[in-house]
Amino acid sequence: MTHSTPLAAAQDLIKSANSILFITGAGLSADSGLPTYRGVGGLYEGQRTDEGYAIETALSASMFKHRPEITWKYLWQIGSACYQARFNQGHAIIADIEKNKPNTWVLTQNIDGFHHQAGSKNLIEIHGRGERLYCVACDFESTAEQLLANYQQTISLPPHCPQCGGLIRPDVVLFEEMLPEKALSQLYQLLDTMPFDVVVVVGTSAQFPHIQQPVVLAKQLAIPIIEINPSETELSVLASYHLRGGAAEMLNASWANE
Ligand code: APR
Repeated sequence: MTHSTPLAAAQDLIKSANSILFITGAGLSADSGLPTYRGVGGLYEGQRTDEGYAIETALSASMFKHRPEITWKYLWQIGSACYQARFNQGHAIIADIEKNKPNTWVLTQNIDGFHHQAGSKNLIEIHGRGERLYCVACDFESTAEQLLANYQQTISLPPHCPQCGGLIRPDVVLFEEMLPEKALSQLYQLLDTMPFDVVVVVGTSAQFPHIQQPVVLAKQLAIPIIEINPSETELSVLASYHLRGGAAEMLNASWANE
């Protein structure tokens, strides 16, 4: 069936699909007021940290090993922004679609936990979740909420474990680190069968192989791909339809409007 516009095609594909794979990035949380990493206004956009490092260096495993206070300084900035923000209509719509189509899955790079907050269940957080904290030296676990509650005044970074004095860190993938095993095996299981009628890529510049791979596979299997992003990305060439606009607005137009 031919459609008059990409939006009409996207509406038809999403509404008629039994199962959808959403692949999401920082652009989905931009509508919650969080900064993206790349592109205009992005955290990484050409800026150096106060100490003169590229932000990817500041947020790397080797920096965390040698100068954890620097890594924590920028993790704290990102975490504080997440802590003060909430999920937006885009996350809510994706969760609503899963309620209507139980075989829908979300593969997210976002560490803000907003998909979880919005009610998504079939969720692969491939870069972890910033809210969860753990000690690198013992079995102590905590949350950002508890850490903040413990430090009524200003927190001293890096935080240390109350059990053993070891370093505490968020359960996220720093640069140079491996992806979390459980999330990766969940992803590989999905890629094994690719039981999706459509793949919707929302708000990601798609820098990583683990994000590009599912889209390339969908293309090879002739599964339609919808890209929701105001800008072109490396994946745009693979997309069947481009919704050039903000995630919340485009998801709303694709799903909520009758
Ligand atoms: N709606 C949809 N997309 C948007 C919006 C919006 N309102 N605003 C910006 N975008 C798009 C940008 O055009 C860009 O393509 O979102 C994308 C954000 O790209 P990045 O900032 O690179 O974020 P992401 O792709 O999620 O980065 C992946 O890189 O540093 C790591 O771990 C970090 O998870 C992050 C990963």
